Parts: sequence; structure tokens; C-alpha cells
Amino acid sequence: MAGPRVVMYGVGAMGSLATRMILEKGGRIVGAVARSPEKLGRDLGDVAGLPERLGVEVSGDGPGVVRATRPDIVVMTIASYMPEMYGPVRACLEEGANVLSLSEELLSSWRTSADETAELDAVARKNGVTLTCSGHQDGYWVGLVSTLMGTAHRIETVRGSVTWNVDDFGPELARDQMVGASPEEFTSWASTAKRPPTFGRTSLHALAAVAGLTVVGSETVSRPELAAVPLTCKALGTTVEAGRLIGFTDVDTVHTAEGPVLVLEMTGKVYAPGESDSNRWSLVGEPSLELHNDDLPTHLTTCSTLVNRIPDVIAAEPGYRTLDLLPPLRYRSTLASADPPA
Ligand SMILES: NC(=O)c1ccc[n+]([C@@H]2O[C@H](COP(=O)([O-])OP(=O)(O)OC[C@H]3O[C@@H](n4cnc5c(N)ncnc54)[C@H](OP(=O)(O)O)[C@@H]3O)[C@@H](O)[C@H]2O)c1
Repeated sequence: MAGPRVVMYGVGAMGSLATRMILEKGGRIVGAVARSPEKLGRDLGDVAGLPERLGVEVSGDGPGVVRATRPDIVVMTIASYMPEMYGPVRACLEEGANVLSLSEELLSSWRTSADETAELDAVARKNGVTLTCSGHQDGYWVGLVSTLMGTAHRIETVRGSVTWNVDDFGPELARDQMVGASPEEFTSWASTAKRPPTFGRTSLHALAAVAGLTVVGSETVSRPELAAVPLTCKALGTTVEAGRLIGFTDVDTVHTAEGPVLVLEMTGKVYAPGESDSNRWSLVGEPSLELHNDDLPTHLTTCSTLVNRIPDVIAAEPGYRTLDLLPPLRYRSTLASADPPA
């Protein structure tokens, strides 16, 4: 069977990496969408840094590309939060395309943007297509942790402590992490009611759903991560002076009706030399358990997870399908072969 026909919506750091992985697994890329004038009109292979041309011209007209190419799926790697995601996602769904995104909020947005989520769910159902978000969280902050929880008899708390390097990603995420801001700017942003939902909160909401737990309350405490000495941010092409932000840490706590308390301390910052990603989870209960994955290449697992999810999203029932409504994440040796009969 031929591989799925894919439109790449967003050709930044993650979109470029995912382009290579999709092609290597037999996906057929039929369209590409970007925003900045310097990318428009160029070949996708060139924009994505691949050694060959792909015969796909990068366009600024997302809905037009989807209408003209009728893809099996749109892989959208443009933004983190609902306000920026809503328009492009809705347009693709209205054109009758499935959408798979890396948006951290849309991993589980029923509690953070309820009205917009209900609207996108309704548009997806009406058009017979699916909206899902995946990425690093799918495997390392939800899937592995829910499996750990599944090996416990009784759970009091589950606590994660994870770090990732802003410079493994593009400028979108570096701006999200307020790299270069002053501590005062961070404090005023973090304390406003308009602050977008933390990545940790939506991840814990996704984890609760997969674990069959009912969220009854969520709180966040945040702190800035400051440069001790001037540090180069590759993602932004700037130097962060000592005393200014290289990122921040959120500690999210989610309370559940059934009892288990879920906590995630997440640091996203520009690393100093010698630092590396970590993913450590402790479960307190019977028995108490630990899960550690250190030195993770989070940017690679982000995109490989995204690509491995493509068949699940194409096969899913229409609507907004969160991870609890999908099969467990699994390896795909190829996107081109049909799934075996159930
Ligand atoms: N869930 C996860 O595991 C995970 C992991 C990594 C990243 N992410 C998220 O994925 C997103 C992309 O990350 P990245 O590292 O690839 O960022 P990036 O390098 O900054 O790329 C984002 C790209 O999106 C494009 N874009 C933004 N708005 C657009 C629009 N309305 N129409 C068309 N293109 C648009 C930009 O295009 P131009 O360059 O043309 O302006 C840019 O190239 C971020 O929000 C990030 O937080 C999630």
C-alpha cells in the first residue's frame, strides 16, 4: 500500500526533521506551508535542509494547499497555544483533512480552552476527520508514566522532574520560554491571568485521562532560570546576558478525585556546556517505583513519536481525539504498509 499523502504545515526545526522522517518511512509529501517570505516559493527539500529537491513548493496559503492536494493528513508544527493554533487547525479540518500537531496545549485542551476545543471537535466531526496532538509528551510524560502507574497497587503521588534544551528546537519555543527577558518581565508575565497554560499542566491532564483519573484541581508555581554568565541562544541567534532569562521552570500539581496527586517539575532552558536532558519520575505508593531516562535526545523523540502516530490519527474516529482515545504508541517500521486486520 502506498504511504499516506501528507502536507507539512510549518517548516521550522521540527517540521524539517519530521519531513525527513516521514519520507524515510514511505510517506508522500504533497504540500508544504510556511509563513516567512524567505521560505515561500522555495522547494521543501531546500527549506528543510535535505540534500535533494522534493518537487514540493512551499506556500503561504495553508487552506489553499490542503484544498488543492487533498492530503490524508496535515502535520502541523507551528505553535504551542490555542490562540495561534485555532485558525490554521480549523481551516484544515474544514477542508476535510486530518490534523496531527505538536501543540503543547492541544495535547489536552478541554480544561484550558474549553470553547475553542468544543468548536474544533465539532468541526472535525462534521467533516469526518480527526485532530490529535502528540510529541515527546506522548511517550515520555504520558505513555511510560501511565505504564509505571499500571504496575502499582496503590498510588499517593506521581512526581516527574524533566529538563529539555531550548536550543534543540526553533525560535518559537525559545520565545515561549522567554529567553532574554528580564526577571521582572517574567514575574509580571507569569502572574497574569492571561499566561497560557503550562506544558506541564496539559501533560498531566493527558496523563490523568490515560490513567482513568478525574482532574479536580490544578496549580502552577513558576521560577525563572537565569544566565550565570553570558550564554549563546542558538535558536534565537542571540547572546543572553548574565542575570537575564535562559528559560524557566514550572512546577504543576494536579489533584484527582480518586486520590493520586500528579506533579511535574519541568525546566526548559538554554543549556550551559555539559548539561543534558533528563526524564525522572517517582511514584509513591505500594510499591514505590522509579523511572529514569537520562540524556534523552528530546528533539528526535518529539519527531519520531509524531511520525509513528500518523497511522493512528488517520485511522481514528472523527473529532478531537486525545491520547486516552488512541491506541498505545508503537513503533512503525514504515508508514506505507497497511495495518494488519484487527
Ligand atoms: N509536543 C512536543 O513534544 C513539542 C516538541 C518540540 C516543539 N513543539 C512545538 O512545536 C512548535 C514548533 O517548534 P519548532 O521547534 O519547529 O519551532 P520553529 O523552528 O520556530 O518553527 C515553527 C515554524 O512554524 C511556522 N509558522 C508559524 N506560524 C505559522 C502559520 N500561521 N502558518 C505557517 N507557518 C507558520 C514558522 O514559519 P516561518 O519560519 O516561515 O515564520 C516556523 O518555521 C512550537 O510551538 C513548539 O513549542 C512541541
